[in-house]
Amino acid sequence: MKTVALPDGERVPVLGQGTWRMGEKKRAHADEVAALRLGIDLGMTLIDTAEMYGDGGAEKVVGDAIEGQRDRVFIVTKVYPHNASRSELPKACERSLKRLRIDTIDLYLLHWRERTPPLEATVETFEKLRSTGKIKRWGVSNFDADDMKELFDICRRLRSIAPTTNQVLYNLENREIEFDLLPLLTRHSSHVTPIMAYSPVGHGRGLLENATLKKIAKCHDATTAQIALAWVLRQPNLIAIPKASDKNHVRDNARSTDIKLTKEDLADLDREFPPPKSQRPLPTL
Ligand SMILES: NC(=O)c1ccc[n+]([C@@H]2O[C@H](COP(=O)([O-])OP(=O)(O)OC[C@H]3O[C@@H](n4cnc5c(N)ncnc54)[C@H](OP(=O)(O)O)[C@@H]3O)[C@@H](O)[C@H]2O)c1
Repeated sequence: MKTVALPDGERVPVLGQGTWRMGEKKRAHADEVAALRLGIDLGMTLIDTAEMYGDGGAEKVVGDAIEGQRDRVFIVTKVYPHNASRSELPKACERSLKRLRIDTIDLYLLHWRERTPPLEATVETFEKLRSTGKIKRWGVSNFDADDMKELFDICRRLRSIAPTTNQVLYNLENREIEFDLLPLLTRHSSHVTPIMAYSPVGHGRGLLENATLKKIAKCHDATTAQIALAWVLRQPNLIAIPKASDKNHVRDNARSTDIKLTKEDLADLDREFPPPKSQRPLPTL
């Protein structure tokens, strides 16, 4: 599995696993654990979850999936903005650690930004959690370019570590980040902040039925999901986190890193899914 370097030098696989919609139904638990375990065996050792998913249920699924193999995995979880204050963040962190049954979170993200608490308070508290070893790094999610500039200013002022990632919606149908956010994070800042692309196969909705994707998939003897993932992963400094509870989907996704799209494929996809020509609001799911 190819890897991406995080700002502190740690390397993580370019392809991880999402968990939204896991941990919601008891009867699906065993299959969800098995799917994540298979994904880990296939090299997708970065697992993304959140206190929000299944109201903590997804973190419990992850806890079961990583049992006995904590050292092989890189765990990302996210805190609700309403739990990201100085007083609430340490408590939310403890609850996540307990559900995941681990001692430290590899990467802890602010799920999205709200007006309160102030961003500075969240960054200061993330840094305290880092100094006590409860988390190893922190980052953000759903931040647009202006939010990121503000965050970089705060980090400079507080002399904190740089944010490890910004997790955002990115797939063929949602290319908004290419206009300003992606260049800001990967080319124009003093250091690279890797992007974590969520919903890379379009949340399993209509994208995978697209005729152009089907045509390209046929040429590569691949599935449309593999082409959608190969397209997201065509660029450096990017991590994709597809969610799959179906083991066939997990196998499919793991193989997407072997696919190399041609110039013609990329041009066809640009025609079908044009890149943004102007700044647009960052969409979220
Ligand atoms: N930070 C945020 O605000 C945010 C928002 C959304 C998502 N996320 C994270 O990103 C992860 C991925 O995003 P997502 O779950 O929205 O969408 P996604 O990964 O694009 O799509 C997941 C859906 O696609 C299906 N699927 C996966 N692989 C497939 C394949 N090879 N062939 C056909 N169908 C396939 C899955 O089905 P099965 O499950 O049946 O296999 C599931 O229904 C989430 O799980 C979550 O961890 C973060």
